[in-house]
Amino acid sequence: MDVILKLVRNIITIDGPSGVGKGTLAFLLAEKLDWHILDSGLLYRLVGYLSLKEKLETTREIVQFLNKSKIQLVTNLKEGICEIKLNKKILGKELRNENIASRASELAKKEEIRNAIIKIQRNAYDSEKGLIADGRDMGTIIFPEAALKVFLLASPEVRAERRANQLKEKGMSVIMHDLLEQIQQRDEEDINRKISPLKPADDAIVIDTSSLSIKEVEKKVMENFKKL
Ligand code: C5P
Repeated sequence: MDVILKLVRNIITIDGPSGVGKGTLAFLLAEKLDWHILDSGLLYRLVGYLSLKEKLETTREIVQFLNKSKIQLVTNLKEGICEIKLNKKILGKELRNENIASRASELAKKEEIRNAIIKIQRNAYDSEKGLIADGRDMGTIIFPEAALKVFLLASPEVRAERRANQLKEKGMSVIMHDLLEQIQQRDEEDINRKISPLKPADDAIVIDTSSLSIKEVEKKVMENFKKL
């Protein structure tokens, strides 16, 4: 029997591969609508961090640690950053590097890990205030009830270029070839995993951002939002 979902107007999901502009779009929309942001990738990066930096070796150890910890997502709209409050520690910059992201991607294939953070993600929605949910499975698995689901696309080369510019702006050095390889490796892992693979929801609007500015993408999304 098919379950009929009651669609919710105050959740917008934004899914797509890494470096496609989901985060920037999420901030623009959250500012415009005065909604919250869920940067779900940051939760997976936390998992990568626990594995690499806190040396939690097995999936079981990571899940146990997640279950007993207080984890909050904090968004600073003015500064345009999302951070994680893990117990009393704030983690932001520490999570934003490709080593952590690659480890996050490997661990994101595991069902136990995904299940351990479903609740944190769903709790980010407060029906009084809307939510922009950014990730890989926001429209397909976490918030299928969202009335507007957006899926962003761009070639790996375009995304690597954008990422490189972002990193250079922050004064970080970039090896383009390595960046492209890491992006392709993560695409491969995210698209081909058995659980919650990266793919558009059946009712998502798909936007190829390769030749669009972020403002043009925002405009397209807002046009669709106003039609709801
Ligand atoms: O979005 P971000 O690049 O920070 O995500 C890091 C990694 O976390 C992704 O490459 C992906 O493997 C995983 N992820 C996921 N599901 C999400 C968000 C991120 O599997 N909803």
